[in-house]
Amino acid sequence: MSKNDSHFFNIFSLVLGILIVTAILLFALSRSVGQNTQLTYLANDPRNVQKVAERIQSPARIAVAGNDNTSLTIAAIAGAPMPVLAVPTDGISTYEAVCSVCHDAGIGGAPKSGSKELWSPRIAQGKATLYQHALLGYQGKDGVMPAKGGRADLSDELIKSAIDHMVKLAQ
Ligand code: HEC
Repeated sequence: MSKNDSHFFNIFSLVLGILIVTAILLFALSRSVGQNTQLTYLANDPRNVQKVAERIQSPARIAVAGNDNTSLTIAAIAGAPMPVLAVPTDGISTYEAVCSVCHDAGIGGAPKSGSKELWSPRIAQGKATLYQHALLGYQGKDGVMPAKGGRADLSDELIKSAIDHMVKLAQ
C-alpha cells in the first residue's frame, strides 16, 4: 500500500466511524424522547386508545343471535328527505310522493293539479275512465301518463284515492 492509500484509508475509516457513532446517538436520543411522549401517549391516553379502536374496527357489524343487537339498527339520518320509494299510506301521501312530480307543475303535458280549466273536461269523462287511465297508463294528446305514475308496486286502492284527491283539488 502506498502512503497516499493508507492516509486515505485512515481518514475514510474515521469519517465512517463518526457517522456510525452519530447514527447510534441519534437512535438512542429518539428512543429516549419517544419513551416520554409517543409510547406512553399511545398506550395510556384514553382518547387515543378509543380513536385507534375506532380506526381498526371491522367495517361490517354482525348481529349475534342471543345478544343485544339494538346498536346495529340503521338510524334514519336526521333531516334527510323521504326516501323515493317510501310506501305511502293514503291518497294524499300517494299524491305527494308520486303524482305531484308531474302534476304539481304540469310537467310533460300532465294536467296541473288544481286547475279547473284543465281538469273539468277530464272529470267529465267519469271517474271510471280516470281510474283506468291512471292505473293502466295511457297516451293522450298532451303526453304519456305512465301506469300508476310509475309505481307499479302500489295498490290500485292507493292510486284511486290519489285520483280522488286530485279530482277534489280541481273542484
Ligand atoms: C311522469 C309524469 C306523470 C306522473 C308521475 C303522473 N302522471 Fe298522471 N298524467 C301525466 C300526463 C302527461 C297526463 C296527461 C296525458 C294526456 O291526457 O295526454 C296525465 C294524466 C292523468 C290523469 C287524467 C287522465 C284522463 O283520462 O284525463 C289522471 C287521473 C292522472 N294523470 C293521475 C295520476 C296519478 C294518480 C298519479 C300518481 C299515482 C300520476 N297521474 C302520476 C303524467 C304523469
